[in-house]
Amino acid sequence: MIQYIGQEKLIEEIYNRKQEHVFQYWQSLSDENKNSLMKELQGIDFDLMEKLFQGKELPSVGGYSPAPTIDPSKSGKEEIKKARDIGEKCIRGGKVAAFLVAGGQGSRLGYDGPKGKFPVGPVSGKSLFHYHGEKIKAYELKYKVKIPYLIMTSVVNHDETVAFFKENSYFGLAPELVMIFPQNMIPSLDTEGKLIMKNESSIFMNPDGHGGSLRAMESSGALKKIREMGIEIVSYFQVDNPLVKIVDPLFLGFHIMKEAEVSSKAIPKAYAEEKTGVFIKNDDGRTGIIEYSDMPEEKLQAKDDEGKLLYSAGNTAIHLINLDFIERVTGKNEDTLPYHRASKKIKAFINGGVKEIDGLKYEKFIFDALPVCKKDMVYETVREEEFAPVKNSEGKDSPQSAKELISGLSRKWLIDSGINIPEKVKTIEISPLFSVDGENIPKETVILDKTEICLE
Ligand code: UTP
Repeated sequence: MIQYIGQEKLIEEIYNRKQEHVFQYWQSLSDENKNSLMKELQGIDFDLMEKLFQGKELPSVGGYSPAPTIDPSKSGKEEIKKARDIGEKCIRGGKVAAFLVAGGQGSRLGYDGPKGKFPVGPVSGKSLFHYHGEKIKAYELKYKVKIPYLIMTSVVNHDETVAFFKENSYFGLAPELVMIFPQNMIPSLDTEGKLIMKNESSIFMNPDGHGGSLRAMESSGALKKIREMGIEIVSYFQVDNPLVKIVDPLFLGFHIMKEAEVSSKAIPKAYAEEKTGVFIKNDDGRTGIIEYSDMPEEKLQAKDDEGKLLYSAGNTAIHLINLDFIERVTGKNEDTLPYHRASKKIKAFINGGVKEIDGLKYEKFIFDALPVCKKDMVYETVREEEFAPVKNSEGKDSPQSAKELISGLSRKWLIDSGINIPEKVKTIEISPLFSVDGENIPKETVILDKTEICLE
């Protein structure tokens, strides 16, 4: 057994857990590297890792049916007005904060850097962070209120994200209200349940998933801070969707009227095989999400009396989450949200060189908040108006498809406002600071006869 004064207990535990290979290069490490390795090992919950490897934590899917949804387009005028008024009052009263999760690795996009820096403006080339920042600024101006903005990063992209916000003067927002904090990391395991080395003195870890965001909000102190500011609801969104309505009074109004703790926006699936999770009601009455790959063919294809897909409420990963709920689930010592396991190729440091091996990554998902909340609401919305995810480098859900959707929505807003668009104009972009949700576009707006137009 290796010796290291003051760390005897930890070392003994590592040997007892049969993880002593982590000390393989110990003799050749500098004091600094020995210290940093011990610090990493100290942060690992070995009980949890064993439990995860044995699969005890994994959620299982039982019987289920489609989740009931609220479709505002089918609500009466009065109800819509009531919901909007309640939502607006909540925003103007300073009770809503924006919560962006941006800790992912963006491996499908293949972009080297925080995904939020990726350019998506079809004319301006503005980044995702720029878009979101300008939207929040626009909502602040519209509702005459300051909106705290929480951003979760990971240790991998934290510094670069903070630097980007500084370089861009926080996109016009008050720096003290922009709270950027990293999420936790969790070790990956090999197929034998052993820790994987990243190099001689470091363990291979991955960010603990977007579901880690509630814990990270609490441990960073941001939760306490926004509670003290009077915030009651956070509007959760993901970095890759430039069309997200970050502050949506109607959604908020229904969330409050339905007394939901967690609400989710759903869009109708485009076709049965679309690879998206759908909202379901488990037989025990709790709402959940089922992944496309976990659905049997007959459920995937099932239709209602009108011939529409029965399991159609696709997940957009846009949620409203009450602070009371976040405080409750993070107040416990153990993790309330379960970990999901994914088999992935991992670049491991083995016998002095890097080798790709089969490994297991563990992540928490935000939608696992649904079955544990007291009441939830699934709210239907329109894909073209709110959902343009940038996931892949090309094809479906790519920068190109997002740009087309941004341009398409901008065009719709102009048409709805009675503005004439010359035929030559192919691409249109409206800055959130010009119009954030398509309203108040001046009637006298003139669109030039060019192929690309950007209204700032
Ligand atoms: P995705 O599931 O699309 O993952 O994340 P990703 O890491 O961005 O992309 P791939 O799968 O590697 O290609 C959805 C949202 O959740 C955030 C992402 O930043 C994105 O906003 N996320 C994901 C986190 O904040 N932390 C995580 O550990 C994982």
